[in-house]
Amino acid sequence: MIKVNENYLKLQGSYLFSQIGKKVKEYEEENPNRQVIRLGIGDVTQPIAPAIIEALHKSVDEMGNKETFHGYAPDLGYEFLRNTIVENDFQKRGCDIYADEIFVSDGAKCDCSNIQEIFSQDNKIAVCDPVYPVYVDSNVMAGRTGEYNALTGTFSGVVYMPCTLENDFCPELPKEALDIIYLCYPNNPTGSTLTREQLQVWVDYANRVGAVIIYDAAYEAYISENHVPHSIYECKGARTCAIEMHSFSKNAGFTGMRLGYTVVPKDLKSEEGVALHSLWARRHGTKYNGAPYIVQRAGEAVYSPAGQSQIKSQVAYYMKNARVISEGLKSAGYTVTGGVNAPYIWMKTPNGMTSWKFFDALLERANVVGTPGAGFGPSGEEYFRLTAFGTYESTVEALDRIKKL
Ligand code: MLT
Repeated sequence: MIKVNENYLKLQGSYLFSQIGKKVKEYEEENPNRQVIRLGIGDVTQPIAPAIIEALHKSVDEMGNKETFHGYAPDLGYEFLRNTIVENDFQKRGCDIYADEIFVSDGAKCDCSNIQEIFSQDNKIAVCDPVYPVYVDSNVMAGRTGEYNALTGTFSGVVYMPCTLENDFCPELPKEALDIIYLCYPNNPTGSTLTREQLQVWVDYANRVGAVIIYDAAYEAYISENHVPHSIYECKGARTCAIEMHSFSKNAGFTGMRLGYTVVPKDLKSEEGVALHSLWARRHGTKYNGAPYIVQRAGEAVYSPAGQSQIKSQVAYYMKNARVISEGLKSAGYTVTGGVNAPYIWMKTPNGMTSWKFFDALLERANVVGTPGAGFGPSGEEYFRLTAFGTYESTVEALDRIKKL
């Protein structure tokens, strides 16, 4: 008889956003006349920008022509895209990163869950709490954690670093020995940020103890304040301790197109002196056939002058929604953070209500969907996340409904 990977049995229920999707579907089936507004999952609503669509059309035509057809993409991605990424996202910002350190992929979610494969099973991981559930769940699947404790809402063997209003959502350096630290800034779900100096403290710490930081920069395009770094490589010494993930989903609306990249600097080595770059290249070559040519061409167009100006308008559109949510909630008396350098607004639930209770109340009484903070970890209890990725009209309507509660 076959045996399953028992680590999967430790997982709790379904993936957070699938669980919410199911609840909302049930509600809609029972209440077909209600207009539900979705501000739950961080999925974009604006169409792909014209300059990107133009590049897509052009590359689709190339695929239909014998002379310009493309088969398998190079393992690490096409050079045209990797060179453009390095120039725009790193060298223009003074970061010491090179094109052969960029691994193009189909998105940051896959990369941040797959990256743990190149590390030893007994490496100890630390995550912020609340946290994007993928970091924890992928380590559970890999057997790098113990069992789930329903009382604490945590897996044994994982270090949870609480990020709450009390510490301004800034995790404290862990006291125990650690190997892999997941950081996501601008943060999902809290929308908080670290200053360059605060991030430097983490880089210095990781270099001191020999840990690696997995830095998820998926929301970097939403940064509006100068003291917030766009990349961990803006910090001194990050080449020897950090891997960084980027996504085209949130800055350019590629959630349905799939494109991202991961940076693994060649100076990043394990205790035995093995370059993580070569392991990740090996994994990429073996298990992945690359993002489609047409999508990589679309990614290149994101960096063209027209592409840049069009996606900046989209980010501004979503950030206008963020202000509507933030100001609307504040005027209704809620405690609210985030939404300044991130498309997520993080609020306290009223009167200590549990976050799932608040989810149900909001769905039933305002027909608005958000994400319960507890779904992101125990320190997310009594918090709730709303996303700015809706349309402007539906966001305004959602806030009107919430204010009337
Ligand atoms: C979220 O809502 O947290 C994200 O959109 C999910 C994702 O990007 O995978």
